[in-house]
Amino acid sequence: MVSTVVERQPGVWVVEHPAARHELAILRSVDTGRAEFRAAAERLGFYLAHAAAANLAVEPIEVETPLCRTIAYQRTQPLVLVPILRAGMLLLPAFLRLFPEARIGYLGLRRDERTLKPELYYANLPPLRPGAQVFVLDPMMATGGSMETAVEFLCGWGATVLTAVCIIAAPEGIRRFRRNYPAIPIVTAAIDYGLNEQGFIIPGLGDAGDRAHGTGGEGEEAQP
Ligand code: PRP
Repeated sequence: MVSTVVERQPGVWVVEHPAARHELAILRSVDTGRAEFRAAAERLGFYLAHAAAANLAVEPIEVETPLCRTIAYQRTQPLVLVPILRAGMLLLPAFLRLFPEARIGYLGLRRDERTLKPELYYANLPPLRPGAQVFVLDPMMATGGSMETAVEFLCGWGATVLTAVCIIAAPEGIRRFRRNYPAIPIVTAAIDYGLNEQGFIIPGLGDAGDRAHGTGGEGEEAQP
């Protein structure tokens, strides 16, 4: 058996499970329609959630099986899922299936197409329990500005245990994020080649928010 989550750079964990790669191929393809794009993102989300949760705290408990008593383990760490609107919503269903009791906070961030600077337009966060693990969900880390702004806001709110979760990350974004937040792990399904002049990740998967919401992007006009 081989390890399917690999630390490709310090603090950057890449999910390389063959089944996750299959989902990523679907997401990358310009021929993938909206419904299948959402479905593939959800399936890939399970692999990302699994990798991101590797360090969750558990405590031993006694359990009575049908045959005898034994020691089992239960999660004790409060969880908060923070999808970055809009595209982060793609990853929420998988995380919620695995962690149904998690609290959910929303941050709305919009990247200015010209300056590439993110603008925070919405924040709605739940109460924060001490030591809570906060998973920040955004499929794309391009310049890293959106993830950085989100994490800055969440640290100001009081979060101390954070993990950045994305589907694809550009080296530029990773460098910036690691420089400013070296202790926060990044979990991603791929490290791509880089950014083009418009700030799009290459090869990337286009604009995840647009593809998921039907608001434009490659192949969109051919769909109902
Ligand atoms: C996209 C993407 C990330 C961000 C990444 O969002 O979903 O949030 O850009 O870019 P960055 O790393 O350079 O900040 P966008 O602003 O297009 O909003 P959307 O999710 O509503 O489509």
